[in-house]
Amino acid sequence: MNSGKKILVTGGAGYIGSHTVVSLIENGYTPVIVDDFRNAQSSVIEQLEAITNQKIKLHRVDCCDSQAMNTVFEAEKPNGVIHFAAYKAVNESVEKPLEYYKNNLQSLLVVLELYQKHKVQSLVFSSSCTVYGEPKGKIEVDESFPIEKAFSPYGQTKIICEQIIQDFHHSQPDSKIISLRYFNPVGAHASALIGEYPIGKPNNLLPYITQTAIGKLKQLTVFGNDYATSDGTCVRDYIHVCDLADAHVQAISFLEKETNGVLEAVNIGTGKGTSVQEIIETFETETGVSLNYTIGPRRAGDVEAIYANTSKSEKILQWKAKRSLKDSVCSAWNWEKNIKKNGY
Ligand code: UD1
Repeated sequence: MNSGKKILVTGGAGYIGSHTVVSLIENGYTPVIVDDFRNAQSSVIEQLEAITNQKIKLHRVDCCDSQAMNTVFEAEKPNGVIHFAAYKAVNESVEKPLEYYKNNLQSLLVVLELYQKHKVQSLVFSSSCTVYGEPKGKIEVDESFPIEKAFSPYGQTKIICEQIIQDFHHSQPDSKIISLRYFNPVGAHASALIGEYPIGKPNNLLPYITQTAIGKLKQLTVFGNDYATSDGTCVRDYIHVCDLADAHVQAISFLEKETNGVLEAVNIGTGKGTSVQEIIETFETETGVSLNYTIGPRRAGDVEAIYANTSKSEKILQWKAKRSLKDSVCSAWNWEKNIKKNGY
């Protein structure tokens, strides 16, 4: 436990942000959310208060608004910042590249400027395994894997943001910053009070499965079963969102202990690859619901197989995924049922 250090969580009402707020509180930190709810439900705050049994401090601010953000930093004087606030829909980024570049780059620039101006001690940035693009020759990727051009403007924003962070750190060698490269976040909090809430039709696999199972969507299409994998479907590293949330707390705690400047990029995954077919089978077995699905053509831009090498997260963050795929699938299903029941 630590002494209630204040951590500003931009995008703290979103999917990963909200779970991280819970984890921060469980570990004795005081999170303060900055979110303008353009991509989150207002009810999240109430749910967070119900889970944690405490009042959650919130600033309804656009992270690209440097003046408003400066006021927040001045008022809160945070010890650390976790910067989630960004657009994240791959398809949408192809249609609206300028909005993606503008929002994702500008919000990071504002956060970095204020990090420096207000002498914040540590910064954790949300990055993605998308920075690795299509891994050539190897499907278990470690952090030394070359960063190439991403498949989408969204992915490209993550590469550029990591580059901006590197340049910033070079000019401010005392800064302490970690980029966490998430693999595929799935699942929901055990209370089923918070979870992933896709706006419109989901693109990601697990929300597509749960929405099909509950009857919101008619049928799931498996995007290709002719890949060179064990069952022909794509392989990913599905990481429980609560494990991912814990990784942020470990990252903050690691940065706090470091006396010198830090710049690291760390994979956050389970280290295990799971195919689309295996996810469907696990879902059906664990929930007892049979899923209406069909095999369709490949989706453009999909990587055949990728999963995380987790040595670095284990070594420097002392963090390892604890929750099972079964837990991920069941918690996502409980959350979907709760959305239906309570109409969040
Ligand atoms: C996608 C993004 C990635 C982003 C991540 C966030 C792409 C190319 N990549 O990863 O940049 O960081 O989301 O979670 O979009 N699938 C189906 N049917 C569906 C949906 C998905 O078969 O209706 C399959 C996909 O082909 C893929 C797997 O499920 O093999 C996972 O897909 P998804 O959840 O969209 O994640 P990624 O594509 O891995």
